[in-house]
Amino acid sequence: MIKRILKWTGLILLFLIAGITIVTAFRQNIKYEAPYPAIKASKDSLVIATGKHLVFGAAHCVDCHNTANVDSLINLGQPVDLSGGREFSLPLGNIYSKNITPDKETGIGNYTDEQIARALRYGVHPDGTVVYDFMPFHNMSDEDLTAVISYLRAQRPVKNMVPRHDLNVMGNLVKAFMVKPVGPTGEVPKAVQKDTSAAYGRYIAMSVLNVMVATQCVIWQEDLPANPLPAVDLLKNPVCQLYIRQTLHQIQPAGYLDGQKMILSNASEWAR
Ligand code: HEC
Repeated sequence: MIKRILKWTGLILLFLIAGITIVTAFRQNIKYEAPYPAIKASKDSLVIATGKHLVFGAAHCVDCHNTANVDSLINLGQPVDLSGGREFSLPLGNIYSKNITPDKETGIGNYTDEQIARALRYGVHPDGTVVYDFMPFHNMSDEDLTAVISYLRAQRPVKNMVPRHDLNVMGNLVKAFMVKPVGPTGEVPKAVQKDTSAAYGRYIAMSVLNVMVATQCVIWQEDLPANPLPAVDLLKNPVCQLYIRQTLHQIQPAGYLDGQKMILSNASEWAR
């Protein structure tokens, strides 16, 4: 009797595991639908310069889409490209940032502007699969997204085949059943007035600043003695203000936060 129960339990378990394994494998490359934002790259040099400013400044694209010690190279005046391949070693496996130079074989050369915009805004790759949510640009304005993509298009293509993501069993399970594309939280603005208001500071902090910077602030908030704040209240947090201020001041000389105000330096800095 016990033998029979054991045998059946074993068989049921085996079928369950086999079933989950098969479904997990099938669900690895689920395709998602998302709209294509009406974004067209511009060849206007001021737009491209604004894009470069965001890519190397507040949006920190270069910190993740290059494997070198980017800040030191930039400080030394060395060129840094966006050829990708940075490894993010997570408990779920290794994720690699993509080559986002215009190379046709290994980069984004064959993507349309709308496909790149969709990946950034709606978290769906050109092939329809989910983009792991490393990038916080879902609410970036049409104007800034256009500038960023215009700069991506204007770069020199670099051939660099980045490794494929390498997920472990947990990673495959999480991808199959839990990871979904992340999109904007509301209506995305066409353009955001670049001024000294807290509204602009909030936009930069929430929709442009790199996720690591934002996360760092959230972690820091937990270290603070009094009431931890939700991420939206980032700008009210003195430690975060200081951090964002330092970050913006060092890397994005276009502006820094002072109290609740965003202080912009000379507008000509945008065009550097
Ligand atoms: C925190 C790190 C990080 C930052 C900052 C970052 N990226 Fe990424 N990016 C990644 C990772 C990791 C992937 C791969 C995600 C995936 O495959 O699901 C990726 C993927 C992409 C893709 C998809 C490419 C493809 O082949 O489908 C594009 C486009 C992209 N990034 C552009 C940008 C731009 C533009 C910026 C700055 C505005 C930026 N990234 C900033 C980490 C980052």
